[in-house]
Amino acid sequence: MAQVSSIADEQTSTPLSSSKSITLKIARYNPEHDESSKFMEFSIPYEKWTTVLEAILEVKKHFDHSVAVRYSCRQATCGSCGMIINGKPRLACFTKISELNSDIVTVEPMNNFPIIRDLAVKFERLFDSHQKIKPYLIRDDSELEADAKEFLQSPQELEQYIQFANCIKCGLCNSACPTMATDSSFVGPQALAQAYRYVADSRDKGKDSRLKIIDDSHGIWRCHFAGSCSQVCPKGVDPAMGIQLLRGYLLGFRS
Ligand code: SF4
Ligand code: FES
Repeated sequence: MAQVSSIADEQTSTPLSSSKSITLKIARYNPEHDESSKFMEFSIPYEKWTTVLEAILEVKKHFDHSVAVRYSCRQATCGSCGMIINGKPRLACFTKISELNSDIVTVEPMNNFPIIRDLAVKFERLFDSHQKIKPYLIRDDSELEADAKEFLQSPQELEQYIQFANCIKCGLCNSACPTMATDSSFVGPQALAQAYRYVADSRDKGKDSRLKIIDDSHGIWRCHFAGSCSQVCPKGVDPAMGIQLLRGYLLGFRS
């Protein structure tokens, strides 16, 4: 086990000066030369509002700038900072240390994603699957030219898909999904939820082609309805429900 490094031992001043501290355990792994991952531990002071991402950035600033982590917006919007925090897929910028109720905070890369280094993972599979389901409104071009106007929706029509439009493509649902772990061709809950988002949009005319894409043994029928995707979504999207509603279209219960 790595020696615990403490910010209190450092000469460099730090904005985090609380009397409370946690042990932050960061999984380190470089696939180019490591056989397996190992944890490095750091003692990090925190305040009530300190996020896990801020704690990791303290480590980069004061101890080891080589820790690899992806982030951008710091406000649960860009979807970059997903990782496993104390065993659960979460956004690091949206998870306060104080809410974890633990003296030890362990951060690991998301499951079901190849590791680039440390906490940074490759998103190719997620983006490829997302692209595959045609994530845009499909309409006839001639109809668009002839109908150069807004396509208005009623509140009821908007209600059909609006929660699914909140997806930030963070990948936490794919990380939690047990089927993603066992079927490397499975399209995944993120893409299936987005397929529903467009199929259920009253402005879209691409329902049949989109349903054909997901009507596959590695598509919608591969889901075992574990429901773990919906439990971890930070934006309130319910991919498990979207998958069930899509099955309704394919089985003829919805039109
Ligand atoms: S459905 Fe939720 S958990 Fe999945 S990628 Fe979208 S925002 Fe992230
Ligand atoms: S840094 Fe953008 S979602 Fe966390």
